[in-house]
Amino acid sequence: MDTEADLFYRRLPKVELHAHLNGSVSFETMEKLIKQKLHLNIEHSMTAIRSGQRRTLDECFQVFKVIHQLVDSEEDILMVAKDVIQEFAADGVKYLELRSTPREVTETGLTKRRYVETVLEAIRQSKEEEVDIDVRFLVAVDRRHGPEVAMETVKLAEEFMLSSDGMVVGLDLSGDPTVGHGKDLLCALQKAKNCGLKLALHLSEVPSQKDESELLLNLPPDRIGHGTFLHPEAGGSDSLVDKVCKQNTPIELCLTSNVKGQTVSSYNKHHFQYWYNRGHPCVLCTDDKGVFCTDLSQEYQLAASAFGLSQESVWGLSQQAINFTFAPEPIKQRLEKKWAELRPQVLQ
Ligand code: IMP
Ligand code: ZN
Repeated sequence: MDTEADLFYRRLPKVELHAHLNGSVSFETMEKLIKQKLHLNIEHSMTAIRSGQRRTLDECFQVFKVIHQLVDSEEDILMVAKDVIQEFAADGVKYLELRSTPREVTETGLTKRRYVETVLEAIRQSKEEEVDIDVRFLVAVDRRHGPEVAMETVKLAEEFMLSSDGMVVGLDLSGDPTVGHGKDLLCALQKAKNCGLKLALHLSEVPSQKDESELLLNLPPDRIGHGTFLHPEAGGSDSLVDKVCKQNTPIELCLTSNVKGQTVSSYNKHHFQYWYNRGHPCVLCTDDKGVFCTDLSQEYQLAASAFGLSQESVWGLSQQAINFTFAPEPIKQRLEKKWAELRPQVLQ
């Protein structure tokens, strides 16, 4: 990325709202982890899906299992989180909401509580080191683990929301969409909402989730992840679209993730177009920049080229994302100010 056009996307101040920590581990950090754990016999090809490659969604979830073997201690999490934050900042991301599923690993003594504390420590250290990015954390619920674990995770998230000085702002629902049903998690999600956690839910990532989406949209979520099959042209329904539109719920759209995971057939068929053309709140995100070998600048560039967006429209997209963050009002105002200051340099 070096031409004038490429530089525009790098210089563009950006907001990243959908980034899974362990999916965001870069090639360089992965190299360090692989070298530290040679006995696992993991090669880089097992942790990333390169340009031109495609995987089924199921294969994508196998990749996370491999990465989790490499990232299994407090030291690993601290390193990974600090590197990921640094990389987003270097890509021009000014505000990042990182999400991750607390894990326990008996062999290394890692507990779910220490997991969250370690991510927060990485955020704190990055701030101390004056990395130019504001980072918040969403605690993730993996749908595969069922209702009891979900409830435990919500309680942990609530505790940290109250004690982390505003760093923990919400809850994510993610994990293999073909496993389990959202109805079993409704109680935990409702509790999260009632205690003030914002909800970012992966919805309709695969076609079979229509009933689940109807149900989860009643919560309602504060943001939707993917929403690939919500609209009628993708096999969803008018009633789903009506709900999303009435609630004006922002949708987090991750182009490369969907194309490489094969839930969308090509960039120019991405449902970004459906929602963007309706004037619906859309935010471009990476999902898993490490696994899908991308970054946010590239995602903006890919969207602009697939849908013929002008630089002015691209600027508008990045700026409106400030409104969809879970940050308190003063932070949003600070970001707006930053965008206003940078505009003359970036948009010439
Ligand atoms: P972690 O939560 O930081 O360990 O990041 C990896 C986890 O994020 C995976 O194990 C999944 O649960 C979740 N994840 C990453 N990408 C996706 C996606 O596209 N759909 C659903 N879940 C995802
Ligand atoms: Zn995701």
